Amino acid sequence: MIKISLEHYSCISKNYEKSLNAGFKKDNGIFYTDIKLASQIMEFLSLPKKSIILDPCCGTGNFLTVAKELGYEKIYGADIDKCAISLAKKNIDTNNIRTLDTLGNDAEYILNKFNLSEPVDAIIGNPPYAPIAKDIMIDTSDYLFLRKVKDSGSNLFIAAMYKAFDLIKANGTISYIIPKNFLHVASYSMLRKTILNEKKIVSILDIGKYFKNVRGEQIVLTLENSFMNDNNISIYKYEDCEIVKKLEVPQSFYKDEILLFSSEEDFTIYKKLEGTYQKFSDVCTGYVGRGKSKSDKAIVGKDIRKFSFKNIEVPKKGNKVFIQNIYSAEAGIIASFAGNLEAGETVTVFTDGDEKMCRYILGFLHSNLCNYYLLNFCYNNSKLTMHTDAKYLKKLPLIIKDNTFSKIVSVVKSLEKIEYMSDSWFDMMEALNDLIYQTYNISENERLHIDLQMKSIQSKRWHNDK
Ligand SMILES: C[S@@+](CC[C@H](N)C(=O)[O-])C[C@H]1O[C@@H](n2cnc3c(N)ncnc32)[C@H](O)[C@@H]1O
Repeated sequence: MIKISLEHYSCISKNYEKSLNAGFKKDNGIFYTDIKLASQIMEFLSLPKKSIILDPCCGTGNFLTVAKELGYEKIYGADIDKCAISLAKKNIDTNNIRTLDTLGNDAEYILNKFNLSEPVDAIIGNPPYAPIAKDIMIDTSDYLFLRKVKDSGSNLFIAAMYKAFDLIKANGTISYIIPKNFLHVASYSMLRKTILNEKKIVSILDIGKYFKNVRGEQIVLTLENSFMNDNNISIYKYEDCEIVKKLEVPQSFYKDEILLFSSEEDFTIYKKLEGTYQKFSDVCTGYVGRGKSKSDKAIVGKDIRKFSFKNIEVPKKGNKVFIQNIYSAEAGIIASFAGNLEAGETVTVFTDGDEKMCRYILGFLHSNLCNYYLLNFCYNNSKLTMHTDAKYLKKLPLIIKDNTFSKIVSVVKSLEKIEYMSDSWFDMMEALNDLIYQTYNISENERLHIDLQMKSIQSKRWHNDK
């Protein structure tokens, strides 16, 4: 067989992907990992050369092509798409690549098809992602498997993970590219807890928005099929086309949600805030949720500015705060005291007992500390546009101290009156940040770390660098 160069093969794979119908791609979760990323992942995993490696949803075989190039000989691949498999076969000279439904069939059947007498050493790849619905199903009568998948979030990639547990030998490695929101979305909790309690999480590599045409962000989750009480998870980030190690976090630290800390400093600040303070949900026991008014007079998201409104005065009395529901990392929280005004659906509303407490919380919401917390620990470091929904707000740490409470309320009142975004307005924002840091016992070094991070994320418009 004439050997096709990696570059040429990469073009063949890309062209095939481009030729596919959008609906077919969506239903089968088709988006191929390019050769460059597949190579970096394979080198990063550094599996022993004798390993039996399987990519159960291999597409055009990009991972396997790279594995072969790196000298692995025992490589196996399957995919439900016959055409993709015929391309993979042309490039990788082996009989071990098959058209096969690896989500619907059980592990024994799959291994038999490859003449393998036992589970494999390593499972790699990028399984399909698609919510299981009426038109996207798994073709199996295995009720318990389907039930597990359903109870863990009903997605094809969840099915692929469970299937991998059956195909892998003890101590073997599973490394899959999966959606980043697997780490924190509530519906995936059952599988997440199974992994935290029964597998060793070797590493999590945050590849962010590597796949430009795929919704959301992705991670490479690498597990070992064993359990170790004192395991540390290594957290990596894909930065400037390199895989960079950020820190290690004990696996036992996580009980359900897995936060992707970006540095030791972030981890330390998180532990400090978690250990000491009560949450927004403990203090703010009134309504927290979307506005519901359909009236023409209802305030909508774009009417709100930081601490005021575009076209109306800030009310003096009442007990509501309005927050733009769409959150952008560049601008941070945009909210105002709203008294008894009405809000439409693009607004998040919270109510509290009195006007003073509303203004106090409003002050905290606009602080660097709050926006830092929200981005890193509520949105799990996703830089995509998020929403200020109740489930995120309720996680915010909220501390109230006698010596700063009234000062913060009065700074907020000043910010409502001063000319919007004037020099004095920015000076007041600085004073607010000082008071919040003081209230939360944030050290000078921690403050520098937070301010620097926020400055690099927020747009220049929100800094008054004179
Ligand atoms: C995200 S693509 C990744 C392909 C390949 N692993 C890569 O990284 O380039 C997911 C693949 O899963 C395949 N697939 C979807 N459902 C499958 C099933 N039930 N059994 C086997 N493969 C399946 C799709 O055809 C597609 O090629």
